[in-house]
Amino acid sequence: MTRRPIIAGNWKMHNLVSDSIALVQEIMNKLSDENINDLPTIVVAPVYTSLYSVNETINKCGCGKIKLGAQNCYFEEKGAFTGEESTQMLKDVGCEYIIIGHSERRGYFNESDEMINKKAKAILNNGLIPIICCGESLEQRENNETDTHIASQIKAALNGLTNEEIEKSVIAYEPIWAIGTGKTCDAIEANRTIKEIRKTIAQISNENTAQAVRILYGGSVKPETIKEQMAQSDIDGALVGGASLKAQSFVDIVLGAKK
Ligand code: 13P
Repeated sequence: MTRRPIIAGNWKMHNLVSDSIALVQEIMNKLSDENINDLPTIVVAPVYTSLYSVNETINKCGCGKIKLGAQNCYFEEKGAFTGEESTQMLKDVGCEYIIIGHSERRGYFNESDEMINKKAKAILNNGLIPIICCGESLEQRENNETDTHIASQIKAALNGLTNEEIEKSVIAYEPIWAIGTGKTCDAIEANRTIKEIRKTIAQISNENTAQAVRILYGGSVKPETIKEQMAQSDIDGALVGGASLKAQSFVDIVLGAKK
């Protein structure tokens, strides 16, 4: 089973429109000599206010090397939901991927497993790809609750999805204690956890589906860590925060993930 790697940059709440355009332009310039077939799928996820302009910048080059992602969405199509954006609206500005269930959204904005499941369904119904985040806190890890916690997050997020929909989805394993701390999860341990995620997916679908789903690692990914991460059997790429905000480090991660 070959799974095409993905490197996704989650820009979080950074960058004004002009900064976002400059960053994506610089990434594209640095990748201009690369053959698209050798590269992983590359996704950048700017703030909402930059999506339209980043999409225009990506399209101008027409090389198709960079895909647009959003950092969140709402599951309803439209209506009186002040401050929210639907999957259709995000598709309208060029998004192909939507990150959901990030631990920052679960933690600061009280997003529940049920909401994340509704978002996954809305994204897939609109022909987009959800990047579904899961991951344990330090306390859960120390209490040996990592595997049970992640299994319950995955089961809830994928509840009611067809095998085909599960196969299209991307999972990002992001241990909360590794996010923005500089403490990367050991690659072998990340791989073990990701294999556990595949087991959970096999239980709710089947082995073929579990083997086809792309599962990323996220949490202090840097140019120096990506090679070892990508050398693992079950890690299919990375969801990158801090290191995606500088063109050079993001491009180094992308190139480090080349097969
Ligand atoms: P860092 O790479 O900054 O640790 O962030 C990871 C993350 O949360 C990506 O979604």
